[in-house]
Amino acid sequence: MKENKAFFRLQHLCVISLILIRVALTAKITATTPSPLSLSRMEQYWSGSAMNKSKGMVENLQSYGIIKSRKVAEVIENIDRGLFVPNGVQPYIDSPMSIGYNATISAPHMHATCLQLLENYLQPGMHALDVGSGTGYLTACFALMVGPDGRAVGVEHIPELVSFSIKNIEKSAAAPLLKDGALSVHECDGRQGWPEFAPYDAIHVGAAAPEIPQPLIDQLKPGGRMVIPVGNIYQDLKVVDKKSDGSISIRTETSVRYVPLTSKEAQLKGE
Ligand SMILES: C[S@@+](CC[C@H](N)C(=O)[O-])C[C@H]1O[C@@H](n2cnc3c(N)ncnc32)[C@H](O)[C@@H]1O
Repeated sequence: MKENKAFFRLQHLCVISLILIRVALTAKITATTPSPLSLSRMEQYWSGSAMNKSKGMVENLQSYGIIKSRKVAEVIENIDRGLFVPNGVQPYIDSPMSIGYNATISAPHMHATCLQLLENYLQPGMHALDVGSGTGYLTACFALMVGPDGRAVGVEHIPELVSFSIKNIEKSAAAPLLKDGALSVHECDGRQGWPEFAPYDAIHVGAAAPEIPQPLIDQLKPGGRMVIPVGNIYQDLKVVDKKSDGSISIRTETSVRYVPLTSKEAQLKGE
């Protein structure tokens, strides 16, 4: 009987010790997890396939403080990223994904960051240019924001990606805007911009330029904003504001890593 009591006391002590060890370990893990805001924009905010819908993706982007406004949340919820990736590619993981031709669809947190930076320049009726439009995802988001009285223009130099993006947009909530002509995608060297619908209130460049192309500065409206990654190995996301007197101010938002804004030949060779 005495032996039984001792055995139960020992067992009880073991269980309590295990609980205490577990609590201590959990506290340590929590303490060493970096704050979301300490991550640079080159990093991934979440991974895993549990995230499988636009709404969940938006909630994650909000919880990390990347989506700050209702309008950006709405557009990301309404333009389903799942319609813009090739078969077999996971659309809602926070990572750039290959779309062929040495190009990628940018990570959700980069799309959201650029939409936040450009939100005030994507008001209904405004003009937006998306250089290196790739899958067409961000061009479709721009179109939804500027609406039927605005203009959203995508320019991309790989003809197969231009056709792919048009098919993607046709499946999305931006399809009526494509049909009515408020949204268009064109095959060209994006470093030259697209003068037909200039000046633009918002210009987004989705590939890293060694320096800011002058035609893009020229096509930016006084009072407008361009967001462009600049650099080669080390790149910064630059925010270029053209003031009403035409003068330019440039600031760095964050460090980034994009594919280069280059010639079609160099891109296809992987240079
Ligand atoms: C990182 S991808 C981003 C695509 C798009 N923002 C997206 O998320 O789907 C960069 C794109 O820029 C395009 N690109 C690179 N240099 C270009 C140029 N000189 N003119 C037009 N497009 C270019 C690439 O083909 C590629 O589609």
